[in-house]
Amino acid sequence: MYVLGIETSCDDTALAIYHSEDGLVAEKLYSQTFMHQQHGGIVPELASRDHIRKLAPLIKAVIAEANIALTDLDAIAYTKGPGLIGALLVGATLAKSLAFALDIPALGIHHLEGHLLAPFLEPKAPHFPFLALLVSGGHTMLLDAKGLGQYQIIGESLDDAAGEAFDKTARLLGLPYPGGPAIAALAEQGNPNTYHFPRPMLHKTGLDFSFSGLKTHTMQTWMQSARDEQAKADIARAFEDAVVDSLAAKCQAALKQYPYQQLVVAGGVSANQRLRARLQTVAEVTTSQLYFPRQALCTDNGAMIAYAGFLRLSQGQREDLAIQPRARWPIDELAAP
Ligand code: KG4
Ligand code: ZN
Repeated sequence: MYVLGIETSCDDTALAIYHSEDGLVAEKLYSQTFMHQQHGGIVPELASRDHIRKLAPLIKAVIAEANIALTDLDAIAYTKGPGLIGALLVGATLAKSLAFALDIPALGIHHLEGHLLAPFLEPKAPHFPFLALLVSGGHTMLLDAKGLGQYQIIGESLDDAAGEAFDKTARLLGLPYPGGPAIAALAEQGNPNTYHFPRPMLHKTGLDFSFSGLKTHTMQTWMQSARDEQAKADIARAFEDAVVDSLAAKCQAALKQYPYQQLVVAGGVSANQRLRARLQTVAEVTTSQLYFPRQALCTDNGAMIAYAGFLRLSQGQREDLAIQPRARWPIDELAAP
């Protein structure tokens, strides 16, 4: 069974083909980062227009890379939400039209479920049930993942998502978008002992996060510093350490409250090396196993959508022809296929 995955929820036009026996057979990704960088952040209308330009040629390219014909596809999975409504509409419309023309099913996938399932594409894969830390540009949450589509939110950010905090802090420091990789790279040059930023929510019981206060703290520290390259690197390091510590502490607390021995981390921020290393320590302390996707499958990609689609389609899930993307879609509204 060949499943084409189409991801257009934000600023990446990402495609992949997943085969039931051979696994991932082709992947294509066009990132709009350069275009949005000119504006200091994502411009939704420009994102939609660019998806329209890139999607059809990329579908041809991914089919060619898989060395199959369009008519060999058995199903199409596309990101139904959450995300930018115009961008989602482009993917959903093309997915449904193509599936209709080929007389095969198309299925809408929840973007965050895609992220959550990305570690299943690795040789060391988790299995349900597990505890998950989902950290992306728009969401930060701890999930009690009981089975496919059965997710209970047990903690989440009360304000900014972790990725959003990286992006906003990078902007304050004059670093390019996306801020996560830019801050992580600069932090390598930073001295970890120059500044110590507060760890939000650590004094509170419960599993929620908060990152918006760190922005203000970063700004004040920057204004009071020498404002040279070394100060910037030291601040980047202090900021990264504070975010990583907060995420790790709540994971550790959750692993103590829930009897899980598997911690899955996914979403764009899970590409962060310091976070991975820190969570590895948490896993050791709590005698659990840590699972995360390879670097390219942390950020938005087509493979996670193709794979989520494959799982749900092979369990018989189908939908009608209506094109109904959802800009907002809480993950705990999902159900098993
Ligand atoms: O999952 P993703 O690609 O898109 C969303 O679904 O939001 O996540 C993008 C986010 C951005 O905020 C970006 O700054 C962050 O992931 N990110 C990182 C790193 N790579 C990407 N944050 C910290 N360290 C990284 N290495
Ligand atoms: Zn994402």
